[in-house]
Amino acid sequence: MNILVTGGAGFIGSHIVNTYIEAGHSVSVIDNLSSGRLQFLNPKAKFYDMDILDPKITEVLKSEKINAINHHAAQISVSESLTNPLLDANSNIIGTLQLLQSAVSLEVEKFIFASTGGAIYGEQIYFPASEDHPCLPLSPYGISKLSAENYLSFFSKQFGLSTTALRYSNVFGPHQNPQGEAGVVAIFCERLVKDKVPIICGNGEQTRDFISVRDVAQANLIALDHTCTGTFNVATGEETSINSLAECLLRVSSKKIVANHGSSRQGDQRRSVIDYKKFHEGFGWQPEVSLEQGLVETYSFFQNQTT
Ligand SMILES: NC(=O)c1ccc[n+]([C@@H]2O[C@H](COP(=O)([O-])OP(=O)(O)OC[C@H]3O[C@@H](n4cnc5c(N)ncnc54)[C@H](O)[C@@H]3O)[C@@H](O)[C@H]2O)c1
Repeated sequence: MNILVTGGAGFIGSHIVNTYIEAGHSVSVIDNLSSGRLQFLNPKAKFYDMDILDPKITEVLKSEKINAINHHAAQISVSESLTNPLLDANSNIIGTLQLLQSAVSLEVEKFIFASTGGAIYGEQIYFPASEDHPCLPLSPYGISKLSAENYLSFFSKQFGLSTTALRYSNVFGPHQNPQGEAGVVAIFCERLVKDKVPIICGNGEQTRDFISVRDVAQANLIALDHTCTGTFNVATGEETSINSLAECLLRVSSKKIVANHGSSRQGDQRRSVIDYKKFHEGFGWQPEVSLEQGLVETYSFFQNQTT
């Protein structure tokens, strides 16, 4: 297939690009490099330094004869979305809508969208959350992702576009930006390689569902199948507290450092854990990388970055 990956120079997108290329697909990438890094981009991918809001995207789709779009470019910061909801909506709603319209006008067959489990389900009512858990987003970021998902369903019903929304839990792995507000694994790894103490926000008993980016890339390979339509959670179903995460990472790093606690973050979700049964039963996907194995790979990436 000829696949366009938006955000393909970013953390998750760069791994998807590698997986698609290894599977024999031709890949074009659109990325405005706002957080993406060219050094992470597979040299076999054709790169367009472009914003998803640029109307010239249709020309790229046409000239590259694109038949599948994998959409990962986004405004990803929850706190930025709280202070600037318009910017968030522009990128995450209007940007997605523009791509969907271009896809339909050029008869693209497949559209895969990076959605979010954590921010869409909000403070969970039951654990782990399945896809039919009420969507209770607590931020404009969660609202814009949910809105984009609704546009995907509309374009699927109205125009027959095969659409897939993948709701990720907390993704971690090599290439993640440690300067971001999320990405606790990347933040801790960067501090540890510099012999700095990791700071746990609050009492550390808040939980997350950590999924390796390698498993997420495999999910995006499966999602290319035209029968794989609808919304699917991509997660481990395992709940890990930030205290346990820090312990595991300290073990992996072999550093004689003890984590510290700082003030808790306002609006931080208490518990987040997501059920992947639907994707497993429908398409055989399941997480293969254990938390410890994923942390070994991530820590070693950060070590190599600084040497
Ligand atoms: N990291 C997670 O845990 C997680 C969880 C759920 C969902 N997601 C979603 O996965 C996707 C990728 O996230 P990530 O963690 O890899 O972040 P990232 O910031 O590393 O990747 C986003 C990429 O998109 C590019 N980009 C941003 N806005 C753009 C625009 N307007 N036009 C063109 N390019 C643009 C950036 O330069 C970057 O390369 C996002 O849609 C995010 O919402 C991530």
